[in-house]
Amino acid sequence: MLETISNTRAMEYIPNIAQLPARLHLLVADPDAAVRSACAEIAAGLGFAVESTGDLDQARSLMESRAADILLVNLPPGSNKGLEVVRDVKLLHPDASVIAMTASNSVSAAVEAMRCGASDYLAKPFAMDELSTVLDRAAANHNSGSIARQLRERLRLSQGLGAMIGRSPEMEKLYRILSKVAQSSHPVLVLGESGTGKELVARTIHAYGLNAEKPFLPVDCASLAPTLIESELFGYVKGAFTGANRAKDGLLVSAESGTVFLDEVGELPLEMQAKLLRALQEKEVRPVGATYSVPMKARIVAATNRDLGAMVVSGAFRKDLFYRLNVVNLRLPALRDRREDIPLLAAHFLDRVSRERKWKYTLNNEALQAMMLYDWPGNVRELENAVERACTMGSGPELRLGDLPTQLRQQELAAKHAAAALSDCADGGEAVQVKTLAQMEREAILDAIRILKGDKLQAAKLLGIGKTTLYRKLKEYGIGDAAKE
Ligand SMILES: Nc1ncnc2c1ncn2[C@@H]1O[C@H](COP(=O)(O)OP(=O)(O)OP(=O)(O)O)[C@@H](O)[C@H]1O
Ligand SMILES: [Mg+2]
Repeated sequence: MLETISNTRAMEYIPNIAQLPARLHLLVADPDAAVRSACAEIAAGLGFAVESTGDLDQARSLMESRAADILLVNLPPGSNKGLEVVRDVKLLHPDASVIAMTASNSVSAAVEAMRCGASDYLAKPFAMDELSTVLDRAAANHNSGSIARQLRERLRLSQGLGAMIGRSPEMEKLYRILSKVAQSSHPVLVLGESGTGKELVARTIHAYGLNAEKPFLPVDCASLAPTLIESELFGYVKGAFTGANRAKDGLLVSAESGTVFLDEVGELPLEMQAKLLRALQEKEVRPVGATYSVPMKARIVAATNRDLGAMVVSGAFRKDLFYRLNVVNLRLPALRDRREDIPLLAAHFLDRVSRERKWKYTLNNEALQAMMLYDWPGNVRELENAVERACTMGSGPELRLGDLPTQLRQQELAAKHAAAALSDCADGGEAVQVKTLAQMEREAILDAIRILKGDKLQAAKLLGIGKTTLYRKLKEYGIGDAAKE
């Protein structure tokens, strides 16, 4: 018989319903009516939508027809049937969590159930608070798993994650780590060259985190005077210094359980580093001039383009703070190491300007080719500026090579010369030129192959020569496998 239960009765004695971010569906399968109804009541009190059945076959067919998020299933002693149900359910719905209930003397059955895919078990008889702990854990795992799944699905359909654009393997790897990191509250250290998107990553971690509705408060450690950093971060009491007419909370407190983004953390003076370390360890801050401490709940995301490891060695950065901030680190790739994202980013920025100015801007092939060849020392920020500038200064809605900043045009020109030299050589150009152009064409070939990550066919196209010529030149210059580096 199938039983459903409303969640109103058990709510008074288990008040933590708010801990469940979404209402999950639980199926209880146990032949013992007393166990079944007790489990169902407790689970309903925790906020689950509960169904229950005394029959294993019915449990299996229910899971087949409308899978519950979590299955709490009794494994009958001396029979494999329960294990078979666990295995079938996990095969059919790998995302469902299965909790096995076993007889207390049957540790091997619990081990076997976990091997078949159960994520947890309860040995009978169990206390009701053991059950609620196991259910809470399953719900938390399920929810964080489903958030990660939603993110993956969004990623599959979009050009990046949230406001972040990029589909290169380097960025996909970053998104995978980011979506996991966002679900925790550990400090995160974001590393990367200038303009790679460190602040955007910090904002994305916050936006996909558990406290996204709380404040995100950035602090630029490089531009604030040391005394200002202290009062900004830790707050102050009335009269702490001239002009402190009233007490003020520091950002670490006013962020509540949101995020404080410590930008350019490498610039933090040593004295402030010690204070920040204490705050992170004790989870409390002492405002300037105070004799008491205030609890802090904020998450810290720090960023730097400096080599903090080297700063630790030279004594400019505290080792203990480095380890505490570096629990998880995210290293952002330079744009030149993910060139396949350049067209996506350029299109994204063009689109943004087009919407703002109600005028459809496009990029011609020559301009895009120059963008693909350029090294972008200022990374995404430089690309963003180049596109915006070209839209402003350009002659019309189609942006051309001449609309791009000079440094891009020079690189394109050099590549063109090298390619022209290469085809001259292929046509049997004059020997006197070959000597001076040989180095240039060798470099052009190596560059093109590196940019296109070893794709020689595309490299030949980029250089404007035939595949056979490219292979002949590779052999001639003894480039061969070195081109893959
Ligand atoms: N993956 C991305 N997708 C879209 N826009 C991006 C991306 N990465 C960076 N940007 C944009 O580039 C600009 C620079 O990014 P951001 O300020 O986050 O870089 P940063 O690493 O903090 O730079 P800096 O070291 O100079 O402070 C911003 O306008 C940001 O929105
Ligand atoms: Mg920044």
